[in-house]
Amino acid sequence: MNRVETELLVVGGGVAGAYAALTARSYGADVILACKTPLTGGSTRWAQGGIAAPLAPGDEDAHAQDTLKAGRGLCEPDAVHAFVRDARSHVETLRDLGVAFSPHVTLEGGHSRARIRHTGDATGHAISAALSGALQAARSPALTLLEGAFVRNLRVAGGAVVGADVLTRNGPVQVRAGAVLLATGGFGQLYPVTTAPPEGTGDGLGLAWQAGAALRDLEFVQFHPTAVVHDGTAHLVTEAARGEGGQLLNARGERFMQRYDPALELAPRDVVARAIAAEIAATGRVDLDLRHLGATFVRQRFPTVTASLARLGLDLGRDLIPVQPAVHYTMGGVQTDVQGRTTVPGLYAAGEVASSGLHGANRLASNSLSEGLVFGARAARAALSVLKVPPACTDGLPAPVTDPAALPALRAVVAQAAGLQRNAAGLRAALAAWAWPAATTGCRAALEAGHLAVIGELLLRSALAREESRGGHHRTEHAWEGAVAAHSVLVPGVGGRIQSVPVSPAVLGFTA
Ligand code: SIN
Repeated sequence: MNRVETELLVVGGGVAGAYAALTARSYGADVILACKTPLTGGSTRWAQGGIAAPLAPGDEDAHAQDTLKAGRGLCEPDAVHAFVRDARSHVETLRDLGVAFSPHVTLEGGHSRARIRHTGDATGHAISAALSGALQAARSPALTLLEGAFVRNLRVAGGAVVGADVLTRNGPVQVRAGAVLLATGGFGQLYPVTTAPPEGTGDGLGLAWQAGAALRDLEFVQFHPTAVVHDGTAHLVTEAARGEGGQLLNARGERFMQRYDPALELAPRDVVARAIAAEIAATGRVDLDLRHLGATFVRQRFPTVTASLARLGLDLGRDLIPVQPAVHYTMGGVQTDVQGRTTVPGLYAAGEVASSGLHGANRLASNSLSEGLVFGARAARAALSVLKVPPACTDGLPAPVTDPAALPALRAVVAQAAGLQRNAAGLRAALAAWAWPAATTGCRAALEAGHLAVIGELLLRSALAREESRGGHHRTEHAWEGAVAAHSVLVPGVGGRIQSVPVSPAVLGFTA
């Protein structure tokens, strides 16, 4: 196997990984960025609506309050504080890198004011293009970009992560690294109907778990309220469509959100998603109606959605659009502190793969792209502050491999037991049925399936253990929020214990 050495190995090429690599390079570090897709892959490029950050220093308090409210008591205050303090300057950096944000800022669910910057409805695409352009321009002996490269396993020595084995287009490479930063995205592919891209297979969570890192709050899964599901594929209709005035109507043509939340269509996502599911169950369908906004405005404001729905024979400007909730984002992940440090030395995580405490039980709309910037930069800086000459590598950790042919059945089990509504009987039955055949090869698909099989079981166990409803976790027989907000922390080891850990009592303290 070829061997290479670097100060920082970044895994993942979306907003968090790309920004982390650029930040590390700006401090003069040697970096290898490995991503299994091309640099413009991952979920970043799929993000439509925009990027949320305080508009001015005076908006920090309000943005923090909106984030905390959506997170239903489970946000870590220091993570929220760091986020609102840092986000604006990183968004300005994107502008410097060439992202042409519209002068118009928009509103989305859970935000008390319009503060979402966007480039029409292709914001993630524009950010992804700017970051990958900056990375390509910075390519040098000190910055290696390994596209189409899959991390098979981490290497651990003396209790610290010291590198990884990477399957590249030119064969396996052993990377000795002073630190490894995971930015691999979420695990939406655990569900059959998701707006997450095919590469969202939870690789970073699986790798971290194998290395002994704690995972947190896996039961909190965000359903985007408005997807158009066609032939089993979910097509996202951005929340900004409701931000611009889009209305939800049931099969009787009634606008129903006033029965669920005073913020109507702009209530937090968990509330709107459950309301839509209830109305579909009661009346047969729910439509998104933008017709009153004018077809010309709608098509100009949302060209990406217009084109995607046109392929399904729907006219966003003129038709009622049949929508339903679909899995969109996974709040849980590898537990980190506010500097992206996991519970294992040498291992860092940022973006959707991480549970930094920013999102709590339910992510506020459009906080994820800015999260990638803030925590990607923080994790890179924290990793560099403790870098040593890469120590010798030990053997790679064994990676669980699963036959990918088992995935449709596993996904069906998860969707049935751990969808928008859960209950103990369903979760217990799912755990009893949770079995998968080992794969005979260690190819990428078998490794991805292995990660999903491990995460699926942990999610089911966390969902069973949480006997309350909060944000993206709703138990039909425990329909109310418990009095104390506590994280579910999964500690690796025999059987993987679940600990209930209260949210830190820190105060935000922006304004006296
Ligand atoms: C959307 O445009 O609705 C998705 C943005 C997000 O997930 O925050």
